[in-house]
Amino acid sequence: MGTTPTRWISTPLLLSLCLCFILFSASLAEDTPVGYGYTISTINNYPINNTLTANLSLIKPSFVFGPDIPHLSLAASFENKDRLRVRITDSNHQRWEIPQQVIPRDSSSQHNPLSFLNSQQGPQHSLSLTHPESDLIFTLHNTTPFGFRVSRKSSNGVLFNAAPNPSNPQTFLVFKDQYLQLSSSLPAQGASLYGLGEHTKRSFKLQPNETLTLWNADVASANVDVNLYGSHPFYLDVRSPSPDGRVKAGTTHGVLLLNSNGMDIVYAGDRITYKVIGGVFDLYFFAGSSPELVLEQYTELIGRPASMPYWSFGFHQCRWGYKNVTDLQGVVTNYAKAGIPLEVMWTDIDYMDSYKDFTFDPINFPLDKIRSFVDTLHQNGQKYVLILDPGISINETDATHVRGLRADIYIKRNGTNYEGQVWPGPVYYTDFLNPRSQAFWGGEIKLFRDLLPFDGLWLDMNELSNFITSTPIPSSSLDSPPYKINNGGDLQQINYRTVPATSLHFGNITEYNVHSLYGLLEAKATNKALVNITGKRPFILSRSTFVSSGKYTAHWTGDNAATWNDLAYSIPSILNFGLFGIPMVGADICGFLGNTTEELCRRWIQLGAFYPFARDHSEIHSIRQELYIWDSVAASARKVLGLRYRLLPYFYTLMYEAHTKGTPIARPLFFSFPEDVTTYEINSQFLLGKGVLVSPVLQSGATTVDAYFPKGKWFDLFNVSNSVNTESGKHVTLDAPSDHINAHVGEGNILALQGEAMTTEAARNTAFELVVVISCSGNSYGQVYLDDGEALDIAGVKDQWTLVNFYGSLQNNSIFVTSKVTDGRFALDKRWIIDKVTVLGMPKQRMDLARKKLNIVKGTKSIRKAIVKTQFDSSDQFAIVKVSNLSQLIGEEFKLEIEIR
Ligand SMILES: *[C@@H]1O[C@H](CO)[C@@H](O)[C@H](O)[C@H]1NC(C)=O
Ligand SMILES: *[C@@H]1O[C@H](CO)[C@@H](O)[C@H](O)[C@H]1NC(C)=O
Ligand SMILES: *[C@@H]1O[C@H](CO)[C@@H](O)[C@H](O)[C@H]1NC(C)=O
Ligand SMILES: *[C@@H]1O[C@H](CO)[C@@H](O)[C@H](O)[C@H]1NC(C)=O
Ligand SMILES: *[C@@H]1O[C@H](CO)[C@@H](O)[C@H](O)[C@H]1NC(C)=O
Ligand SMILES: *[C@@H]1O[C@H](CO)[C@@H](O)[C@H](O)[C@H]1NC(C)=O
Ligand SMILES: *[C@@H]1O[C@H](CO)[C@@H](O)[C@H](O)[C@H]1NC(C)=O
Ligand SMILES: *[C@@H]1O[C@H](CO)[C@@H](O)[C@H](O)[C@H]1NC(C)=O
Repeated sequence: MGTTPTRWISTPLLLSLCLCFILFSASLAEDTPVGYGYTISTINNYPINNTLTANLSLIKPSFVFGPDIPHLSLAASFENKDRLRVRITDSNHQRWEIPQQVIPRDSSSQHNPLSFLNSQQGPQHSLSLTHPESDLIFTLHNTTPFGFRVSRKSSNGVLFNAAPNPSNPQTFLVFKDQYLQLSSSLPAQGASLYGLGEHTKRSFKLQPNETLTLWNADVASANVDVNLYGSHPFYLDVRSPSPDGRVKAGTTHGVLLLNSNGMDIVYAGDRITYKVIGGVFDLYFFAGSSPELVLEQYTELIGRPASMPYWSFGFHQCRWGYKNVTDLQGVVTNYAKAGIPLEVMWTDIDYMDSYKDFTFDPINFPLDKIRSFVDTLHQNGQKYVLILDPGISINETDATHVRGLRADIYIKRNGTNYEGQVWPGPVYYTDFLNPRSQAFWGGEIKLFRDLLPFDGLWLDMNELSNFITSTPIPSSSLDSPPYKINNGGDLQQINYRTVPATSLHFGNITEYNVHSLYGLLEAKATNKALVNITGKRPFILSRSTFVSSGKYTAHWTGDNAATWNDLAYSIPSILNFGLFGIPMVGADICGFLGNTTEELCRRWIQLGAFYPFARDHSEIHSIRQELYIWDSVAASARKVLGLRYRLLPYFYTLMYEAHTKGTPIARPLFFSFPEDVTTYEINSQFLLGKGVLVSPVLQSGATTVDAYFPKGKWFDLFNVSNSVNTESGKHVTLDAPSDHINAHVGEGNILALQGEAMTTEAARNTAFELVVVISCSGNSYGQVYLDDGEALDIAGVKDQWTLVNFYGSLQNNSIFVTSKVTDGRFALDKRWIIDKVTVLGMPKQRMDLARKKLNIVKGTKSIRKAIVKTQFDSSDQFAIVKVSNLSQLIGEEFKLEIEIR
């Protein structure tokens, strides 16, 4: 839901004012350097823990943005072979760092006795640290000022180069209490960067000359290039081939700056510079060397993404402005009448009594009525999710508030609870750093759920949003720090419409340091509470996020607008959250702010049906946009959601993969085709998993789409007899009539699909179909993970889950499709069957249409009833072999042989 009026920052006057200010501060910085850098005074090696430490001394003081810290310590260590940590902090005083309780990071492998330090004096007084099994090398330069770099053994390629340019003070390390600066040069050509959010971007790949500000803010995501709800100081760096051929295309590493303070990250194409207003430099380098491996290594440190309930992959409907329970019932009925699947009905703040958390509006949403509404949803296999805001109304008649006061768990300032203003009027904010807040918040959720058995919780406004800006405390530099980050894109003070930086959390921790952690802490506490209450996998959707939020919550991209641009920008946003370890993500389908149109809403559901999280949501001031409102939207919705529901086992298995390995559900094309440099630039297409390519229409009036197809054979998922075949990757103009989106499956993939249905529960009772796309150069592969869809422990308790791997190959004169089953009991008990196998991609000349002998070496006896049909595809290049009536239990291993000659 929304916020207050959106801050559109496009008025020409405002824009020119900011430009002047930026130019002015830039020239000021040129005249007086912010700092002069440091030199190395001593170096120590600790072979026992693969650590190299150095003491650093300030060269010469500068007083811009405050005095320098004179003595620093640097420690470089290999936490494991793929993870190098470089930490720089004040030698003499402890500084703010994200506590282990907030983001537990496993660094136990530090003391791995098998690894050893290998340091050597190199040319120009440099010293290197490496690890026998790692591809990374850390090198310290004993220059004036000092510098360091991270490079690869395998290619000599430099990944991060913080060796300063002596003639450019902007490249020096600066370390003050409220201003930290670190800069790395990047290859002028050939480093493609992704990540560093949350921002709405026109392109997925970062463009040179941008300042990326990180400071969580309730700013509508309809605004491009400004800091939004979350902070993720993590990027992926994908390298193009080097002229000497040593760097292979698609060699990828990741860099995290683990720091929760506000910051500007200036990306200049050939340089990246961090300007941070607190904390320490705690950098992590992830060796990759593929994009998938970087994500595996990154989520190993920060925590793997949460497993999501099966039902959460169904279609969701929400609106801010539903009037009453009758209105909700009408929406559910209309979806059913239109034959469009509706899995989850949502309510925004409308259901509350005067917008107070944990209450129901006695007139329009009385408890008895909403409860019988939710009971009916449950009887029909549907779900209900509602919103919670973090501000607790200061109202003596409100039991939650009274318990909050008694528990003394609110954020404080200047000696009392800090009073903000949100939807209910004056509020106090729960301090999730206070250990007592878990019992308070969990207790409120428990009491609320005893009243109404909701299925999930939606956490909004947790940036923290505040409708007022409190006056700064003049004696403190926290409310008005000397360096102004580019908050809101117009250098707004950091206190702008949030809880002021001088507010205090438990343990006297300042809001200044933990501001951007609030959404993470709230999601974590809510997750813990729901696990405790339901004993099942929770579904939580949070607007504000930080590093590691994916372990607890899903995310939507916030308040977008119903415009064609917002439709297009949703792709970079969703891909970014995959990189941030929050793969369950979607944008509000049909657009949140402003009025959508029939055409836009139609194109949006076509794309949105492929978002990992698919929800239609609109605001109170805009027209209704449920999918049944327009006949053409309804027709398209039936078609695309029909395919989404068939793909549910695929989405769910991708969630399992995300949860176990960190790989995103929606992925950039370069995840599967890192050697194809054209894929680095793509903003308007994406992959689901390895092999489903989505190519949406993003312009009004268009009925074709210019789609890029990496090398291989691709088959239209709506009509497998349409194919695209490319030797080396090419752009293809595809038909995209008004009711159609292009979605293709690529060679080498095996998809396990199920049937269309009105709910995910009903879809789970349909037979499976395998779509096998033969690769002439190797095996085809696919996987399906099966469990009850809500067990807490994924792939945990034996006999409660099944994993099936599928393999397809072309050998001599036969196609083989085989399975390998891990823990088949669960699927066998469910009696789930594969009824159909469709084989695509067989070159026509290898196929004798008359010949279709079928042979099951291992598996069910029902093969006698099976029917085999063959045909050629519309391009007349490939044969399609359809085997039906199989009744093969999915929990039982089989080997299917189809003789083709
Ligand atoms: C490595 O060991 C040394 C000596 O015991 C210690 O001073 C240093 O803090 C350790 N470093 C890390 C990163 O644990
Ligand atoms: C980036 O900015 C610099 C300095 O203002 C300018 O020289 C350069 O051309 C810009 N690069 C791009 C790609 O805009
Ligand atoms: C629900 O809201 C609608 C629209 O405001 C109104 O017409 C209807 O009477 C309300 N129904 C109930 C039961 O309150
Ligand atoms: C407190 O809540 C009650 C019940 O919703 C409401 O009538 C009253 O106006 C509220 N008081 C204040 C001061 O907000
Ligand atoms: C802080 O509290 C004191 C004493 O209650 C009060 O006089 C002062 O105005 C407060 N300052 C701010 C900035 O709220
Ligand atoms: C709490 O923090 C504030 C701001 O950093 C500081 O002024 C104050 O002395 C601290 N109080 C205690 C009890 O540590
Ligand atoms: C779990 O629930 C129990 C009983 O309701 C409660 O006492 C406990 O505080 C809860 N724990 C958490 C972490 O919420
Ligand atoms: C949206 O449509 C409604 C109803 O036609 C109209 O009242 C409102 O002004 C429109 N809003 C915008 C932003 O155009």
